[in-house]
Amino acid sequence: MSDETTERGAPKRPVHRVLVGQKAVVTGANSGIGRGVAVALGQAGADVVVNYVDGDDAADAVVAEIEEAGARAFKFKADVSKEDDVAAMFAQAVKQFGTVDILIANAGLQRDAAFHEMTLDEWNKVLGVNLTGQFLCARAAVREFLRRGPVPSVSSATGKIIHMSSVHQEIPWAGHANYATSKGGIKMLMESLAQEVAPHGIRVNGIAPGAIRTPINTAAWKTKQAYESLMTLVPYGRIGEPEDIARAAVWLASDDSDYVVGTTLFVDGGMTLFPGFATNG
Ligand code: BGC
Repeated sequence: MSDETTERGAPKRPVHRVLVGQKAVVTGANSGIGRGVAVALGQAGADVVVNYVDGDDAADAVVAEIEEAGARAFKFKADVSKEDDVAAMFAQAVKQFGTVDILIANAGLQRDAAFHEMTLDEWNKVLGVNLTGQFLCARAAVREFLRRGPVPSVSSATGKIIHMSSVHQEIPWAGHANYATSKGGIKMLMESLAQEVAPHGIRVNGIAPGAIRTPINTAAWKTKQAYESLMTLVPYGRIGEPEDIARAAVWLASDDSDYVVGTTLFVDGGMTLFPGFATNG
């Protein structure tokens, strides 16, 4: 037995600089998974638009971290569920960076409620940000990719879109019908778009995170009891960290994954392996 610590977390190896010269838009980039992805893209060499809707200071901190890594970044406040906000953000990205090569459509939220108590506002808010927001951002990105056309010295693909989904694109989730519906919709949006734009050299893929330590699910990991209960759903025996998703996003955005088209990459410690069946059924 080695005497290394048995504390298990996300590996802390340097991110490879596989995105030098590329320009990225990351939505919901001032917190949680979006923050981790934005910083990792910067470490990989990409210039990054740090989109957010609330939390100027947190957005400034992400910009500073990307700049420390040697890339350019600016924050842009935009509600991704609003067409004009999204158009303004992409116009600013093109103005400052010249183009966009990578979209990480990440912004998402939960408004949990028992189904019979769910309000139309709770339903519309979640579908508006999680699904319509991804549609609007992906459409703006595709328009820019088509306008610019291929630049093989920058990337083999004319553009890359990564839709941040969830294990709940597959796993039904009582008490979260709006959220699970939005993620099921993202799966079909991603696959239909991937099929449509692949002939233009545009790669569209999804990432389906499991339980990641972020503000969206604090209740699932903040107490020892909650964490232990969560671990009955995670065969790999640890919660995910934003860095786990960030590394997957860097790979999917890079030419290392050039032949990966229309796939959802599950990054979930085995949550989708039906762990209840390990000792049952
Ligand atoms: C949700 C989290 C949840 C995780 C696993 C994510 O998509 O946002 O709240 O912990 O799925 O159930």
